Amino acid sequence: MIESFCMQYVELVQGLYQKPARISPKFFYDAKGSALFEDITRLQAYYPTRTEQSILAANAPEIARAVGANRTVIELGAGNCQKAIVLCESIHPAYFLAVDISEEFLHDAVATMRLSFPNMEIQAIAADLTSDIVLPPSLPTARRLVFYPGSSIGNFDPSQALALLSRMRGLLADDGALLIGVDLVKSETVLNAAYDDDEGVTAAFNLNVLDHVNRLIGSDFDTRQWQHRAFFNAEQSRVEMHLEARADLLVRWHDGSRRFSEGERIHTENSYKYRVEDFVDLLGRAGLTRTQVWTDEQAWFAVVLARP
Ligand SMILES: C[S@@+](CC[C@H](N)C(=O)[O-])C[C@H]1O[C@@H](n2cnc3c(N)ncnc32)[C@H](O)[C@@H]1O
Repeated sequence: MIESFCMQYVELVQGLYQKPARISPKFFYDAKGSALFEDITRLQAYYPTRTEQSILAANAPEIARAVGANRTVIELGAGNCQKAIVLCESIHPAYFLAVDISEEFLHDAVATMRLSFPNMEIQAIAADLTSDIVLPPSLPTARRLVFYPGSSIGNFDPSQALALLSRMRGLLADDGALLIGVDLVKSETVLNAAYDDDEGVTAAFNLNVLDHVNRLIGSDFDTRQWQHRAFFNAEQSRVEMHLEARADLLVRWHDGSRRFSEGERIHTENSYKYRVEDFVDLLGRAGLTRTQVWTDEQAWFAVVLARP
């Protein structure tokens, strides 16, 4: 516990000293950040959640046939487990394990899941996927299905994504599989609106990271002095989120400080958008092949099944 706190402290402070400063998107998810993310998923402009859910629902029988029975489902970055509920209703797994960094929110989500599936063995662990993924020793090794929805893979740059996919592959025996959601390249207007909604919900989500960081490292960020910026970077095929200083500022924390000039930014998130063939290629490089792909009518989002 203390070790993980120290690692978070060092990671955050190192990020704040970088030029430009960075805060990893995993720090969005304290209890308030998780609740704000749920609010984002209900926005008209935020298409990924409803599009992925509609793909899972519309193709449920085919996905169930492809996945097969008696799976042990491991959902990574589970959030509210809503997509897992849709999946589990059609594949009836024997075991379900939810993994997420946002501990309190995860335990509430899993309690709801237990009500929906009283006969399923359900466990939850709070863990950071950017470290080694340590699963409970009691979890069956046969017929695992790693489920990673939400296009969370897009938060990692391609080399980090390859490393994470390889670690997921490492959780699977030869009869294992990965079911993963991936957001696809589309019109810049649609992408910009999804990450910079008129209601200001994504702005509140982005700014909340500063309150979380204040609690973690004793810093004195004042959210009123920062503004949300989000835009599609076509060259890198990613939406970027930043926090921009509204004035010249000095931010202090326990054992350090940093000056920010007006207009200077802290980079808080990347959300890479893939072409299906590029993502299938990335999976192949992680040792995951024999892919099946389901998309929506507009080809905005893909759900991909891959096997070792
Ligand atoms: C974009 S949300 C997706 C939530 C849900 N899976 C969905 O599809 O709606 C990302 C989820 O991953 C979790 N998360 C983010 N970074 C993480 C990390 N490094 N380790 C574990 N969980 C993480 C967050 O707490 C959040 O629940």
